[in-house]
Amino acid sequence: MEQYVIRGGSELKGEVVIGGAKNAALGILAASIMTDEDVLIENIPNVNDINVMLEAIAHLGAKVDRIDEHNVRINASTISSYEVNDDYMRRIRASYYFIGSMLGKYKCAKVPLPGGCAIGARPIDQHIKGFEALNAKINISRGYLSTEAKALKGAHIYFDVVTVGATINVMMAACMAEGQTIIENAAREPHIVDVANFLNSMGAKIKGAGTDTIRIKGVSKLHGTQYTIIPDQIEAGTFMCMAAACRGDILIKNVIPKHLESITAKLLEMGNVVQEFDEAVRVIGAEHQRHTDVKTLPYPGFPTDMQPQITVALALAEGASIVTESVFENRFKYVDELGRMGADIRVERNVAVVDGIKRFSGTSISAPDLRAGAALVIAALQAEGVTHIDGIGFIKRGYEEFDKKIRALGGVIEYINDPNKSEYA
Ligand code: EPZ
Repeated sequence: MEQYVIRGGSELKGEVVIGGAKNAALGILAASIMTDEDVLIENIPNVNDINVMLEAIAHLGAKVDRIDEHNVRINASTISSYEVNDDYMRRIRASYYFIGSMLGKYKCAKVPLPGGCAIGARPIDQHIKGFEALNAKINISRGYLSTEAKALKGAHIYFDVVTVGATINVMMAACMAEGQTIIENAAREPHIVDVANFLNSMGAKIKGAGTDTIRIKGVSKLHGTQYTIIPDQIEAGTFMCMAAACRGDILIKNVIPKHLESITAKLLEMGNVVQEFDEAVRVIGAEHQRHTDVKTLPYPGFPTDMQPQITVALALAEGASIVTESVFENRFKYVDELGRMGADIRVERNVAVVDGIKRFSGTSISAPDLRAGAALVIAALQAEGVTHIDGIGFIKRGYEEFDKKIRALGGVIEYINDPNKSEYA
């Protein structure tokens, strides 16, 4: 079983370079099949979710040329199937982005329904609402969603909840609908803007991405492009919280500071030093940090994908903090694991009361999901003694060379596939 073995307490100091944004890359890869011309995508993160998505695209019949770990050329002119294999959906929920891209280009798609996951039910009712508004027929049976449309017609769509996935999915389909589509109450995350910019580089006509109203003029054809993905806001934020929690001094390079503003604001409230540069931020963790309150919200609010990481930093601050998770209904599962390390956190439904302690103590824990796994690594790096973390397959889905980057900062972390082989066992 794959594990990280971490000896806490070493000073974390130095530089880390952030990779491409996983959640932008997933939408962009799905959209890359919307043309029959070559698409060159640069700065993709070399993480498991991306590699599964590329396998799924090849499985549809497209040509996938992995130039190197961060660059890929895709040509979808040879696609022969409009059905996504169930195995891919089980491995990655973002396979549902193929509904929007295939509906846009081929006016039909058959995709397995995504299951729920560790952090919540995650329904896709808003995706379906958007596709039906565009004149697509939706049929759900035997665990599959099948959809087709004689022609997609532009529509005025108002999302009942702010949803990243449905905004991206419906935006893709609407790009090749007849007429104008307006999406109201759209999600505004940086990765939405990146997907919209990618589609516009292929000849789509999207305006307003990054605001809550997106206007799209449908086109009949999209052309090839060459596109570089933005840096990953959440990977950057994870290292920012690592510097705070471990009282380190980390220069986080290849970031867009604007995307990190809500995280910077919270770390400053806690008393940390955060210096902003054009394409980097430096975080110096203060010895004594103050408690503060955090409520996760859609962008530009504090990201839900940063909730576990900031909670670990708050668990090491002085006083009591309140963390409210307003996006997902079950995103505090990791708190039980932190409790085993000595954290003093009480959870009532979607609110956690976090009483600061001086130091975690190392033990054996399990990562329940991707972002919680990264947060538990931060806790282990600060802890007294050795921590064994299993379930790190989750972490490898979204963080490239996480242990290698931490070792380069001075962290003592080892990846093992057999618990008996650790020098820290
Ligand atoms: C994306 O998930 C991200 N995943 C998640 O990151 C992220 O936590 C989430 O956006 C919020 O920012 C990818 O981009 C691949 P949503 P998504 O649709 O699109 C409800 C990570 O760690 N909802 O914005 O699934 C839903 O239940 C992952 O990288 C509906 O009710 O999130 C949730 O409560 C974890 N109906 C809220 O909206 C719908 O049709 C936000 O979900 C769709 C969503």
